[in-house]
Amino acid sequence: MTTDERELCWAELERATRERAHAFRQPVVMSVDEEGYPSGRVLTLRAVDRQNARLRFHVDRRSPKFAHWMRQPVAAAVFYDGPAKWQIRVKGLIDVHFDDDVARAAWDTTHPMGKRTYLTTEAPGVEVDWEIKSLFPAGLELRRPTFEESEAGYANFAVVLLEVVEVDSLHLAKDGHKRFQIIDELHSVRRLAP
Ligand SMILES: Cc1cc2nc3c(=O)[nH]c(=O)nc-3n(C[C@H](O)[C@H](O)[C@H](O)COP(=O)(O)O)c2cc1C
Repeated sequence: MTTDERELCWAELERATRERAHAFRQPVVMSVDEEGYPSGRVLTLRAVDRQNARLRFHVDRRSPKFAHWMRQPVAAAVFYDGPAKWQIRVKGLIDVHFDDDVARAAWDTTHPMGKRTYLTTEAPGVEVDWEIKSLFPAGLELRRPTFEESEAGYANFAVVLLEVVEVDSLHLAKDGHKRFQIIDELHSVRRLAP
């Protein structure tokens, strides 16, 4: 048994931010909605700060999840790598950034086609008329925006940092599943029954 499980998990999450096809790149991330129900969706893992145990995601400020996290800044996420038979679950606190240095730095590294998603004329989740062909502004349906055009999207852009307080890592194996609980604050790794 190993207490290096923390290193193993964080190294793999870090790798997922560099490798587009990595299974851990698109976890399901949960918020709590206005009625208290869990609300999950796939988000792209943008960056990992191993030192401070933070995961970075990018979201639209007009989206329901943004409202959830403004109201109740907690989250859980599930990462799953099928071929490796490896599940990582995390839970933690949410730190939202918009219109500040953290958001600007993240926005500036976003690809123009990524920025385009924040230019849509309707907010995520809003009912759309069947006749409308594209939700991108006229002229941007099929091309990347220029730098000037994309800047309007910044008003809708937010960085969501998940400050991880607990990790649960499970490896399925023929000779016995292996499960670990990692509590960052306590620097503790415990083996659990799977
Ligand atoms: C592969 C994949 C990657 C996604 N990445 C993101 C992302 O990085 N940020 C985001 O806001 N939505 C992303 N989405 C869309 C969300 O899953 C979700 O549908 C959308 O953000 C609306 O969520 P909400 O209604 O819970 O606010 C992604 C969806 C898929 C399928």
